Amino acid sequence: MTTPRATLLEGGRIVDGSGAPAVIGDVLLQGDRVLAVGPQLRSQLPAGLSLADVECIDCSGLAVAPGFIDVHTHDDAIVLDAPEMTPKLSQGVTTVITGNCGLSVAPYVVNEPPGALTLLGRSFRFPSVAAYAHAVAQAAPAVNVAALVGHTTLRYACMDDLSAPADAGQLQAMCALLERCLQEGAIGLSSGLFYAEAMPAPADEVTALARVVARHHGVYTTHLRSEMADILDAMHEASDSAFAAGVPLIISHHKCAGPANWGRTRETLPLIDQLAGRQEIAMDVYPYVAGSTVLREDLVDGVIDVLVSWSAPHPQTTGRLLAAVAAEWGVTQREACLRLQPGGACYFQMHEDDVRRVLAHPRSMIGSDGLPHDRHPHPRLWGAFPRVLGRYGRDEQLFTLEQAVHKMTGLSARHFRLRERGEIRAGWFADVVVFDPARVRDLSTYEDPLQRCEGIERVYVNGQLALTADAPSSLQRAGRMLLRPGA
Ligand code: ZN
Ligand code: CU
Repeated sequence: MTTPRATLLEGGRIVDGSGAPAVIGDVLLQGDRVLAVGPQLRSQLPAGLSLADVECIDCSGLAVAPGFIDVHTHDDAIVLDAPEMTPKLSQGVTTVITGNCGLSVAPYVVNEPPGALTLLGRSFRFPSVAAYAHAVAQAAPAVNVAALVGHTTLRYACMDDLSAPADAGQLQAMCALLERCLQEGAIGLSSGLFYAEAMPAPADEVTALARVVARHHGVYTTHLRSEMADILDAMHEASDSAFAAGVPLIISHHKCAGPANWGRTRETLPLIDQLAGRQEIAMDVYPYVAGSTVLREDLVDGVIDVLVSWSAPHPQTTGRLLAAVAAEWGVTQREACLRLQPGGACYFQMHEDDVRRVLAHPRSMIGSDGLPHDRHPHPRLWGAFPRVLGRYGRDEQLFTLEQAVHKMTGLSARHFRLRERGEIRAGWFADVVVFDPARVRDLSTYEDPLQRCEGIERVYVNGQLALTADAPSSLQRAGRMLLRPGA
């Protein structure tokens, strides 16, 4: 038996990622590329290719789309430790962007990761992006990986006392380190000014780093300093930094958090549209009303529900509501939160109407923000993409199928500068997902988050069949490190 030289996906509804209306047709894959797209390709195969060389897959009734790009992940270490990447691949994700929220595993070496770095697990052993890229190549994950460099990580690498702004020498060291990371292929910078280790950094510190990013044509993503009462100030700070430096800005997991701020996407989204008049700006979003991060007592207000996703000192509380744990212990929720640290939680801090408004906005891309190291993770880790396609697209008709796919593919590749990916086009890389638009849906829940979704039929990564609906795990691991063009 010889391996087929090409794959023909026949008769599917081609949703090409550009946002254009779907057309019924065929997609021919050969090597790591899409060779041709069009009607009836069987009868007009390119010269040198006979039908005997082609594996034909009937895709009638199914959608054929570019592989989804998860633009907001904390998968830096998990692509090395669990390279099958089943939580993502099973959703149709073929590329993950790592290093978000100011937190990246490279460039930093430490045995016991402190503070917010615990979100990424324990693999802090890469002094450079080159070393990280080498490890990715060795691990051969099932999905492609593009890496941002975290501002908080740079601070840890170059500063002893993170409670102060960087001094001139430290800032110079951070800029030099970032420059080297970009030269080695990192796609940009992320910040997480909301986190304690970055909060003391003034806007100027970030702007200086963003200037380095501009020289290398990278992007800047940010977890804003505030997503609560001060969100507009935080948005102005981020957009001013990006504008002054001349880099494209992506606002991470855009939300208005806390009951006092519900409804304020009516202010934030028009501000984004207004800023778009002077600079490239976009945002990512996950389709849930709960956020998730490390346990922090300032996020515990006694009003919203808080679900424990892990706790080092009290693992038995995993998956329980903080209020119930506090009642059992006879303490306040904040006191219980303190006792549970280090740990993580889901915070039910958003209003459904805000989530919908952000999802429906033409500048929003889908990013899961899944936390793969949590014992009882937020359901977005396994469900974000099918939930957008199924619940919000098909069932609630918040957008068309074409728009939903665009938010996961073409728009994402454009904003993150991923070359020749994000659309089904002849000559481009063959990252492809075949799914059933009528059946696709998320099954992962807050109670039972480790559930694989339904309706994703086949996933190709760089032309290789990576997953089918009935395969328990990845078939071939053909993911690559996607280095910034010019690196
Ligand atoms: Zn974040
Ligand atoms: Cu994040």
